[in-house]
This record gives sequence, C-alpha cells and structure tokens, in this order.
Amino acid sequence: MGQGVVHPGEQAVERDDGLIVRGYLYGSANQAVLRMLAEIGDKKKGPGVHKGVKARERLLMGFGHRVYKAEDPRARHMRDRARTIGEKMGQAKWYQILRRVEEVMAPYRERGIYVNVDFYAGSVYYLLGIPEDLFIPLFALGRIPGWIVQVFEQWQDNILLRPLLKYVGPMDLAYVPIGQRG
Ligand SMILES: CC(C)(COP(=O)(O)OP(=O)(O)OC[C@H]1O[C@@H](n2cnc3c(N)ncnc32)[C@H](O)[C@@H]1OP(=O)(O)O)[C@@H](O)C(=O)NCCC(=O)NCCS
Repeated sequence: MGQGVVHPGEQAVERDDGLIVRGYLYGSANQAVLRMLAEIGDKKKGPGVHKGVKARERLLMGFGHRVYKAEDPRARHMRDRARTIGEKMGQAKWYQILRRVEEVMAPYRERGIYVNVDFYAGSVYYLLGIPEDLFIPLFALGRIPGWIVQVFEQWQDNILLRPLLKYVGPMDLAYVPIGQRG
C-alpha cells in the first residue's frame, strides 16, 4: 500500500500499488498555471508573476523539475502546440502570456529552473476543450504503460518498490457506474 493524503477539492489518481498522483507540485501544476493565466489575463501584466521567486518565498508553477535541470524536453512540444493551436483558434493570447512569463523567468535558469511540461500543457488542454477535472486522468493515462511494465519487472525480478506515499482516504467505497452518479 502506498501513502499520501488527498485534501478535499484536490484531484487524485490512485495507482494499483496505492501510489497517488496529485497536487500542484506534481500532476496538477498545469491547472495552477491555468489559474495564473486567468489572473494575469493580459501579456503586459506577465512580468509581475515572478515576485517572491528571487527571495525564494514562493514557487512558480510550471517551472522546475526533480530530474530535469535543463529544459524539460516535453516542454518544447507543448510550447509548439500551445502556439499553433492558439493561433488556429484565434486565441494566441494565452501563448503570448506564457512566453512573456518564460522570458521573465529566464534569469532563474542559472538555478536550474526551466519550464516543465505542465507550463504549456494546461493551455493546450484548455484550448482542446478538455475539462479541468480530466487533466490528472490524462496525466495518469500516459504513465499507465510504464506503471504496468514496473509491475511486470517486479513479478519477474522481485525488485523492491518502496512507495513513499500512503493513502489515507476513504476505503471500501462501492463503485457507482457513471450513468448513475448524481
Ligand atoms: C518540481 C519541483 C517540486 C522540483 O523541486 P526541487 O527538486 O526542489 O528542484 P531543485 O532542487 O532543482 O530546486 C532548485 C532551487 O530552485 C527552486 N525552485 C525549483 N522550482 C521552482 C519554481 N517552480 N519556482 C521557484 N523556485 C523554484 C527550489 O526551491 C530550489 O531553491 P534553493 O536553491 O533555495 O533550495 C519544483 O520545481 C516545483 O515545485 N515546481 C513547481 C510545480 C510544478 O510545476 N510541478 C510540475 C513538475 S513536472
């Protein structure tokens, strides 16, 4: 059984091994970026967003990664999609704001803080009409093949998996088919 705490109103996906994917620092940073975009609303206001980052008082969502200390290679593809889809749909403004924020954050690259995949992903999902509550399931879908391979590897070689999170949410809930949910 993995570990973790899911707070009310937060999205979470639980894997078979009990690991929970949740929270703004992980899978739903893209939602936090969307909220930031809505708050900025205008590309001229972008520069103010990094307030507090220099003094290490706050984290800016969509930047930084536990592993990548250079640009997240997936971010390049999402940036490209955010631009092309935005232009095609006559909503280039979101991409322009994101670019402006990225420019403003350029000095922090020397600390290893670059855009990650979530920075542009939220706007791409939004433009594609994907509802926010499907962002985390989408994130999980892409990882399912890797998780399955891990389970196979564990069966074959009995490798030790030691999840760091513990699920403490409700247990033994009955499955209600989607059509019967309120
Ligand atoms: C993903 C994350 C948890 C990795 O954190 P980490 O492993 O501590 O990253 P690093 O060790 O490279 O951080 C180096 C420094 O940059 C800072 N930093 C990292 N990401 C930052 C961010 N998004 N905004 C501001 N500062 C950041 C760290 O606080 C650390 O500061 P320090 O030198 O004072 O200790 C972190 O970058 C983060 O919370 N990002 C925002 C959430 C996000 O976009 N998540 C999606 C990830 S795909």
